[in-house]
Amino acid sequence: MTKKIRVAIVGCGSVSGSYLPQLMKSDFAEVVAVCDMAVERAQKHAADFNVPNVFNDLDQMVEELEFDLLVNLTSMNLHGPLNKKALAKGINVWCEKPIATDLNTAHELLNLAKEKGVGIWGAPYTLLSPAFQEMAKRIASGELGKACTAHGLYGWEGPSWGKWFYKKGGGSLFDLGVYNVTTLTGLLGPVQSVVAMAGAAIPERVVDGELTTVEADDNTAIILDHGNAVYSVIQTGFVYKQQLEDWTIQVIGTEGTVAMEGYDWEPRGVRVFTSKSGKWDTVAKDQGEYHWAGGANYIAECLATGKDPIFSGDHALHTLEVMIAALKSAETGRRVTIESSFQWPILKEGVTV
Ligand SMILES: NC(=O)c1ccc[n+]([C@@H]2O[C@H](COP(=O)([O-])OP(=O)(O)OC[C@H]3O[C@@H](n4cnc5c(N)ncnc54)[C@H](O)[C@@H]3O)[C@@H](O)[C@H]2O)c1
Repeated sequence: MTKKIRVAIVGCGSVSGSYLPQLMKSDFAEVVAVCDMAVERAQKHAADFNVPNVFNDLDQMVEELEFDLLVNLTSMNLHGPLNKKALAKGINVWCEKPIATDLNTAHELLNLAKEKGVGIWGAPYTLLSPAFQEMAKRIASGELGKACTAHGLYGWEGPSWGKWFYKKGGGSLFDLGVYNVTTLTGLLGPVQSVVAMAGAAIPERVVDGELTTVEADDNTAIILDHGNAVYSVIQTGFVYKQQLEDWTIQVIGTEGTVAMEGYDWEPRGVRVFTSKSGKWDTVAKDQGEYHWAGGANYIAECLATGKDPIFSGDHALHTLEVMIAALKSAETGRRVTIESSFQWPILKEGVTV
């Protein structure tokens, strides 16, 4: 009988409503506490999901309760500071994206985790979907020839809650583009440099019932240089009423193409064309148990069984560096070099090429 990982959640807002039902299904996780400064939200989850402990303050929770994994579902600007508090106590962290909003803090978090002998991992968890794995396998096998061109497109009209989405440290790139940056670096490898444009196309909008000035990007376009003349292009924004979902990620090689149907966080399948087949086939239609809010389940399973997660804090840090560089490029009009890297390719155990 494997020991269950004791999980505590901080942040009981919108996304926690998707995480808790996932965690309840896990054979490896036991949710022992919920925490929110708006304590009535934590109390409601505790009652609905039978969670034994409620807190309104993370400091008190890490002081008073023993647990193995913090699941940080607070607003983006709080990810860095709250993650640091847990890591300092020797607690593993799964964090909604991004793990921090500045690079120094992200490096500090990874160093602190190493020093304490624990882990920090961040959403998105898209790399575990059967559709992503199918694309990664086809690229790694050489079936597509040299995969040198890719596109990602992901947007919607933006949240009507949480002013922080539109303030510094928020924005459509950090909130949405992060998925495509994770997916395309996951498929094509680490990025060496970036150029981008980003702006606020809708300068004021109503959020939580109040007219709010938009300070962060709501419309962003990036070109990523993966080295060896391999480029990908990502567009993301809070200014899309609707986009076609036929494919939102496409990787084009010298001998074939793979395209993801649906979104990378909720794929519906993969369309493949190769010189050899000479036709389009749809594969990986079944996403099995994959759910976009299942990242904490996966990490709890890895911690409980001793299995190595297929992605790392290094990839989350790289993704953050790419996004920060994109915003810097947009501001300065210059190409920005990327320093960090991560282990690649990312293939699930059992997926062979
Ligand atoms: N909402 C979604 O559908 C969705 C989907 C995917 C990812 N995310 C990500 O999830 C994270 C949270 O998003 P959300 O939409 O749930 O935001 P939200 O504003 O609905 O919830 C954040 C919660 O954190 C609580 N909080 C803030 N500071 C706190 C503190 N110091 N201590 C304890 N609690 C605190 C707030 O009271 C609030 O309940 C973000 O990183 C977001 O990008 C959201």
